[in-house]
This record gives sequence, structure tokens and C-alpha cells, in this order.
Amino acid sequence: MFSKETYMQRRAMLKKAIGSGVVLFLGNDDMGLNYADNACHYRQDSTFLYFFGLPFAGLSAIIDVDEDEEIIFGDELTIDDIIWMGKQPTLREKCERVGITTSRPTAEITKYLHAAAQKGQPVHYLPPYRPEHRIKLLEWLGLPFARQESSTSLIRAVVAQRNYKSEEEIIEIEKACNVTADMHIAATKAVRPDIYEYEVAAILEGVAFTAGCNLSFATIATINGQTLHNHYHGNKIKQSDLFLVDAGAETPMGYAGDMSSTIPAGKTFTARQREIYQIQNRMHRESVKALRPGITFAEVYDLSARILVEGLTQVGLMKGNPEDAVREGAHAMFYPHGLGHMMGLDVHDMENLGEIWVGYDGKPKSAQFGRRSLRLGRMLEPGFVLTIEPGIYFIPELIDKWKAEKKCADFINYDVAETYKDFGGIRNEEDYLITPDGSRRLGKKIPLTPEEVEALR
Ligand code: GLY
Ligand code: MN
Repeated sequence: MFSKETYMQRRAMLKKAIGSGVVLFLGNDDMGLNYADNACHYRQDSTFLYFFGLPFAGLSAIIDVDEDEEIIFGDELTIDDIIWMGKQPTLREKCERVGITTSRPTAEITKYLHAAAQKGQPVHYLPPYRPEHRIKLLEWLGLPFARQESSTSLIRAVVAQRNYKSEEEIIEIEKACNVTADMHIAATKAVRPDIYEYEVAAILEGVAFTAGCNLSFATIATINGQTLHNHYHGNKIKQSDLFLVDAGAETPMGYAGDMSSTIPAGKTFTARQREIYQIQNRMHRESVKALRPGITFAEVYDLSARILVEGLTQVGLMKGNPEDAVREGAHAMFYPHGLGHMMGLDVHDMENLGEIWVGYDGKPKSAQFGRRSLRLGRMLEPGFVLTIEPGIYFIPELIDKWKAEKKCADFINYDVAETYKDFGGIRNEEDYLITPDGSRRLGKKIPLTPEEVEALR
């Protein structure tokens, strides 16, 4: 945890931004995987971690802005809890660690919220994303699920703080990135024909666990990289495969790393793999070069898409004017996702608060296929931490669908695309901090160029 002053300053800033009313923070509870006592790995809610730092289940908090009160609600462990799960600090000790002087039993929260409602105080809360949050809002505020409308002013205030990473946060994120880089270096060395995807996944996840970290999201380690979020690890690797890894570590404080690598199953890339891989590398390098305050991430995305179209035109997969192709969304046949996203306490930082607020500052986002998956489009500012992860994919089902619809037929050579249906996908990903005059990569370097990948094989 950071020092108590960090959490006190964060709360003071939030109080100032909200101005009046009561802010309710819903911590996360333990969650049964297949029955209550076989619980999923516990993860505290990220906004709760940001303002209250405490990684314990069963806590809620209230900031009463009008009364200038901060209260954590929770219960002491029973002797049975201690026997089975171990001792924890008392509620008072937990509160002291984060500069909170008032704690109360959970049973008292309903009374507090009812009194606030009677006084006419608005109760602000963030969008609930777990059933337990919804049940608490029903029980404590009497709000049926359909009427659980979160507070836009609270969302905006939280985003306005969490989007700008402090120096101590950047140190934590960089720790996550260094472990994440080691995971990718280990995977790059491990991939070989005739082993299973799960063997590579086990090696790279072991690197995170050995470093005392957890995973920041479910590992992608696959010969089917054309499936963007593929979590199946049961295939045997063949000599001709490209192997895509998208994986990251989470530090004990909850900060994430997120990187991707694409590795040939053979010792070197084939000529065809290398040709496409180098186009992806140009998309990646030029995007990184463009990062600076004052450019929108949507512009950097467009740049990456244009480089893709230029490259695919050279190899005969696309045709026509690259600017027109990008405007029409033709590139999305081969690049159906965005260029990157904010990263911090969540791997897709604050995605539960809504992409529009986090990534677009409340402005509308495109509905066009491909571009609509861009989670971040806003003007970049110093302190933002984001990923750069352009990709190139050959998705047989998408090729068939667009071909049948003659979609973007002025820009796509479908006959050539047919011959790439067995290619798979390529993605590389690094994490960057936006600095006052550009950007800085976070964490050690992972192999990016074909030569750097092959040097580890
Ligand atoms: N790491 C997975 C993603 O960014 O969607
Ligand atoms: Mn990512």
C-alpha cells in the first residue's frame, strides 16, 4: 500500500470535485467459483483500492461530503473465519492504515443511507458490475436493478483523477511491466513445435507467480491468434504456426502490465510470416513515434491503419487509395480492434466506468466496425499510461462474410485474402507513459523486430 497521505489526498481531491452529497463505494466480496468455499482469487474493486487502498473482502465506504465524514463499513472476523482463513488486522487498524478515523459495522450502512436520503442528500455511486453490488444497492437504497443509475458526476471525477498516474503509481506500473516483459521473454524462448499451448501458458504464468505477482487478465497463448481474445490452450503447436501471446502481470498492489508477442513455432519466421510481421512492426513503431501530448489517440490509430493499408497493398492484399480505404473502414477486415487502451489498476483502466468517459472525455465515438473497438480516442496528456497494440489478422469467417457482401471490394483483393486463411494473427504490444515532450516505454524491452524474436529462439 502507499502511505496513508496518498489516500487522504486522493479523497480530499474527490470531495472537492463532487461538492456535495454522499459518495458510496462498493468494495468487492469473496465470490464462489463452483460453491461458496471454493472461492475465486480475491480482487478488490479498483476504485476502492484507489481511494481506500485496502485489499480485503467485505468492506464498503462512504464519503459524506456535506458532513466532511469518511467512514469504512465492515465487520470483524469471527473465530471461524480466523480458524479457516487466518487473522487479519482489526477494522480499526485497517482504517488507520489509510487515514480513516471512523469505522462502523456493515449493518449500520442502511441507517446512514436512509438518513442521508431523508436529508435530501444525493447518493453518488459508480456503475455496479457484480451481482453483489446490485444486491447491496437494492438492499441499502431500495433501488431495483433497473433503477440503479450511477452518478455521471462521480464517474467524471474519478476518471479525472485515475487517468493521470502519479510518480508512485508509475513505479508500481513499471514493476508490473518488468515482470510482464519477463513473461514474454520466457514464452518467446519456450515456443516450439509438438508441445501444447498450455505448456507455454504455464511457463509464462509461472514467471508472474514466481515474482510474487498475479495475472492482470486471462492469458492468451494460442496458435489461433486471429481470434482476438482466445483463452483456449489445448492445441498442439505445429512447425508452420505463428504463436500469439497476450499476457500480463498484476502487482500485489493491483497495478497491471499488458504486452503481446508473436512468435514463429519454427526457429525463424517463414518469408510469408516475416512479410506481414514487418508491416505490423511498422504500424507499431510509427504509432510509438507519434505519441505525445496534444495528439489524439484516434489520430494515432488512423496512422496505424494507413500504414497497414500501405503495407497490405504492397503484398497484394489491398488496393486503392489508403486514405480512402481507412475512411471507409476497409482496414478493419485485417485489423478489427483498436490501437490500445488506458492501463493502471485495471488492465483496461476503468472500463467499468464507461469507455466514453475514460477514453473519449464524454465525446461520441465512432460506430464503424473496427474503429468502434478503439477504447481510447481522446487527446493525450502527460501522465496517461496506455498500450500500443496494433495487429494484423486473417479471420476466415470475416473474409467469407465480407467477400459474400462484396464489402469494401474496391480496397480488398479477396482472391489473395483467400490464400491467407490459414495464416493466423499477429499482435505486438508495449506499454507507454505520455510525458511532457513525448512518451516513455514502461518496463524492459521485449523482442519486437523479427531479428530480436529470432535471437531468442
Ligand atoms: N490484453 C488484452 C486486451 O488488451 O484486450
Ligand atoms: Mn492490451
